[in-house]
Amino acid sequence: MEVLIVGGTGFIGKALQKALDLSGISYKILSRHPAKANHVFWDPAKQQLDNTSLNSITHIINLAGAGIAEKRWTRERKKELINSRVEATQFLYTECSKHCPSLEGYIGISGVNAFGFDDSLCYNESHPFATDFLSNLVEQWEGSHRLFDKLPSFSIFRLGMVLSSQGGAYRKIAVPMKFCMGAVPGSGKQLVPWIHLDDVVGFILHVLQTKSVGLIHVVSNNSSMKELTQTIAHKERSKIILPNIPVFVIRLIFGEMGMLLTESLRIDRTKLSQTAYKTRFNQLSDLIYEKEN
Ligand SMILES: NC(=O)c1ccc[n+]([C@@H]2O[C@H](COP(=O)([O-])OP(=O)(O)OC[C@H]3O[C@@H](n4cnc5c(N)ncnc54)[C@H](OP(=O)(O)O)[C@@H]3O)[C@@H](O)[C@H]2O)c1
Repeated sequence: MEVLIVGGTGFIGKALQKALDLSGISYKILSRHPAKANHVFWDPAKQQLDNTSLNSITHIINLAGAGIAEKRWTRERKKELINSRVEATQFLYTECSKHCPSLEGYIGISGVNAFGFDDSLCYNESHPFATDFLSNLVEQWEGSHRLFDKLPSFSIFRLGMVLSSQGGAYRKIAVPMKFCMGAVPGSGKQLVPWIHLDDVVGFILHVLQTKSVGLIHVVSNNSSMKELTQTIAHKERSKIILPNIPVFVIRLIFGEMGMLLTESLRIDRTKLSQTAYKTRFNQLSDLIYEKEN
């Protein structure tokens, strides 16, 4: 087995690299900024890829995409969020069709923000897409992953918010707490579907080494934003003393992207729970003991 991690230099990719190292599975990283011997150059926006070392790749894990919560969603940014996933994956497919004769497995990553936000519903994998920007993005993104669906092993992981004190959303929430500026966004009652980074990586390894699972929600639990903020504050040895941040303030600061903080979403994890993989982090309180795990 030789794995190609596309967009493997980021938050999830770095943790995945460590796990592959520990498992003795060899891998290469497809990156726009190759910096190490096992990095392979590509620039999907310019349709460029160094295809000279892809011959032995047997599995692809596709994590690539411009950061959803990094910048305000202007019209230009929205195009970038879509193109860095959809056009990039289409280009990857074209190149792999020509240069990866040994390819047998593919895991494409997407997200759970695909259904709109009615938390009286618990959305499972067969629920139809909504029509807001993120839902539309996820629909197109998964469409591009499906170019690979004739491979013997094919899966799409719809991830909830990936939690780890090492980075991602956790660190964004934790930073203001250092200055006693932590506050709960909105009412705090909105539900956040989440999964711990170790479980994302653990499940990727599980699927790589067992069999494909098709489309699957990779979520451990749906917890309230209040509980999430307070758990992080507790772990950071901080206290929330400020009042909740009103939704209109979040909208003023973040624009449309603020929906990631204010909207409520409940995701069904039945399919994941029926696999042989057992998630290690199931309650937010498990995060407190992260280091000891
Ligand atoms: N973290 C979460 O909570 C979460 C939740 C749901 C879904 N996801 C999805 O899971 C994937 C990985 O997440 P992550 O947190 O590891 O993201 P990340 O840290 O932002 O890493 C994403 C990688 O994508 C590549 N990339 C960035 N901009 C790109 C562009 N314009 N064109 C092509 N490649 C680009 C980068 O690799 P190079 O710079 O080396 O090319 C980067 O290392 C992302 O697609 C993300 O949307 C994440």
